[in-house]
Amino acid sequence: MRILYSDFRKNLNDIIDQYADNGVFIIIDKTVHSLMAAELADKIASWRKCAVFPVEAVESSKSIDSAIKIWQWLEENGRANRKSLIINIGGGVVTDLGGFAASTFKRGCSFVNVPTTLLAMVDAAIGGKTGVNFCGLKNEIGTFADPYRVLINTDFLTTLPVADIYDGYAEMLKYGFISDKSLLDDTYCVDLQNINCCDIIRVIKEDIKIKQHLARVDRYDTNERRALNFGHTFAHALEAFCAAQKHPLTHGTAVAWGMVCELYLSVLQFGFPKDELSRLHYFVKDNYKHIPLSCSDFDKIYGFMTRDKKNISNVVNFTLLRDVGVFLCNQSASKTDIYEALEYVF
Ligand SMILES: NC(=O)c1ccc[n+]([C@@H]2O[C@H](COP(=O)([O-])OP(=O)(O)OC[C@H]3O[C@@H](n4cnc5c(N)ncnc54)[C@H](O)[C@@H]3O)[C@@H](O)[C@H]2O)c1
Repeated sequence: MRILYSDFRKNLNDIIDQYADNGVFIIIDKTVHSLMAAELADKIASWRKCAVFPVEAVESSKSIDSAIKIWQWLEENGRANRKSLIINIGGGVVTDLGGFAASTFKRGCSFVNVPTTLLAMVDAAIGGKTGVNFCGLKNEIGTFADPYRVLINTDFLTTLPVADIYDGYAEMLKYGFISDKSLLDDTYCVDLQNINCCDIIRVIKEDIKIKQHLARVDRYDTNERRALNFGHTFAHALEAFCAAQKHPLTHGTAVAWGMVCELYLSVLQFGFPKDELSRLHYFVKDNYKHIPLSCSDFDKIYGFMTRDKKNISNVVNFTLLRDVGVFLCNQSASKTDIYEALEYVF
């Protein structure tokens, strides 16, 4: 899998031309389609050779029903064969769904990801996981399949709502914490109110390198790749708790607060530097939605943690840090420490 950062229009045009004889099928986020399809059709000469399938980018679109609709569309169009190409243009909903549909159609045909959200650029479009939700469970059905190419074009970020920018940014901070101090400092320096595509692309490239490396050394997520789960054990429990209270959180907000909680555990268990915990805590308080919790909520949050699918032998599983860049996967924490972390953070 190659990631292409420059000459977006030329690269997309060339890829479409290369596959045109066997059919090129574009699955695109409906919002991106309405914002940019005219411009893309205008500037990419080969665009008109493609069939286009717009998808509403909501979590409920990541379903087997949507995959079936895509498979039917590929069949009905008549031209899709095993050598056809599917191009997924959108955020993680589209890259997960489109990647899944492509990797299963005729036992797998090639696909290209064109991520249009910050989160998809640094995370969802990279690393080879595709999937749909099933029986109320996230990403329950899916495949490991690498895109043929990923085309990164930060121009897409200019229309992305600020809340979605902050969602992706939480994952960028995570890469800083699990890799090194200088990347973490560079990430804190990105001006989110006034995104400068040249500045952010440097950090995005570093983040992608980390994800590619972890996906290469531990494709099936049993060991080092679990570094990417840093912040996510608390995050998933907070997301589930807030959804049950009918005050849903965005994933990025949950990850931001989840990282603060897991840094607290890292301080307790491994002597992680307290000043880095404080820096993140202030940053998250200033920039992400506050979650109003009281001690009476902790049992429910803990209950959600005990059902996390990352747990091993019913023990709640965390990725913790000894220092910035020194991660320890498959760690546990006592119930007392988990409650103490919640009390400190909220
Ligand atoms: N496969 C993986 O490894 C992986 C990793 C992380 C997340 N995910 C998945 O990614 C999904 C979340 O993806 P996401 O956060 O990228 O967002 P998304 O696909 O849900 O899109 C978020 C919103 O942004 C809009 N949007 C997208 N691009 C835009 C643009 N350029 N301008 C304006 N609006 C735009 C969409 O229409 C939507 O309203 C989740 O389903 C999650 O499970 C997958």
